[in-house]
Amino acid sequence: MAYPGRLGEAIEVWLDGRRQGLAKASAAMSARYRGGQSSAGVDPAAYLTARLPATHAVNARVLAEVAERRPDFAPQSLADIGAGPGTASWAAVAQWPELGDIEQVEATPAFASLLRDLNAHSGLAVLERAQVREEALVQWAAAPRDLVLASYVLAEVALASLPDALTKLWSASRQVLVLIEPGTPEGFRRIALARAQLLKAGGVIIAPCTHHAACPMAGADWCHFKERVQRSRAHMHAKGATVPFEDEAYSYLVVARHGEAEGGARILAPPEGNKTGVAFTACTEQGLQRLVVPARDKPAFKRAKKLDWGDVWRG
Ligand SMILES: C[S@@+](CC[C@H](N)C(=O)[O-])C[C@H]1O[C@@H](n2cnc3c(N)ncnc32)[C@H](O)[C@@H]1O
Repeated sequence: MAYPGRLGEAIEVWLDGRRQGLAKASAAMSARYRGGQSSAGVDPAAYLTARLPATHAVNARVLAEVAERRPDFAPQSLADIGAGPGTASWAAVAQWPELGDIEQVEATPAFASLLRDLNAHSGLAVLERAQVREEALVQWAAAPRDLVLASYVLAEVALASLPDALTKLWSASRQVLVLIEPGTPEGFRRIALARAQLLKAGGVIIAPCTHHAACPMAGADWCHFKERVQRSRAHMHAKGATVPFEDEAYSYLVVARHGEAEGGARILAPPEGNKTGVAFTACTEQGLQRLVVPARDKPAFKRAKKLDWGDVWRG
């Protein structure tokens, strides 16, 4: 997926001369993240090459979902928390070109420096004038923004500090807060905690939940989705990969200040179809349900055949 403006070019320029030892740095990065460690020791060149394509694709997918659920939402201002190279900001600018004001909070000096460099060479006026705060969320003097994004950052916040972090993120969200985490049991754990806290705070869940009833995900299962990401040659080389794509698993939560829950059934795994019908597992206000759309219901069957994991079925 292309990055907006001249960011693709800016990344190549930044990487020039920094590609030595990328495979090793990339393996070390994966091990750090798998082990639940922070980005503080991550090589930004490895991140740009081997991690960014997936986090960017997921951000683009989730923000497209926000736009679909709330077509009138037209954010003018954005706070991107744990911005890294600026991933979530780029997806937001592509989704809502009218964004005029961006603040990016990034605690790790190496990433803050990369962020400033890429902003300056992005070819996008809104990023060129973005305010970069080189500090941790806890230090940030939050000013309300229409949209607040925290993409793959809560994993780096200690569980004991999560409630305060969420309170701060929510207090800064004038209209919509988007949280994205890895689609792992640990990533979902943070999303589930956020859901419970933000519902108590009066938030309206836009996605992926279609309702405000208790989350039915329990035990060994966890709510997650997958986004297919094409790998460049550099990406494959950095990862020692043999297939030209990867499926990035993610969990997420979109919470709004106003409105109502969407209703419908969120599909939680790839639907299974044959000549007799389409069947899928979905999350509904009544809990997890196995729904079947029989082929004899021709109009519904026609729609159901196009369904994918992550879509909403409205019957
Ligand atoms: C995994 S990266 C995600 C970067 C980017 N948001 C993305 O989706 O590609 C996490 C980023 O959050 C930053 N970070 C972690 N904890 C933070 C905190 N408490 N305050 C601000 N930034 C933080 C890290 O330095 C790192 O750049």
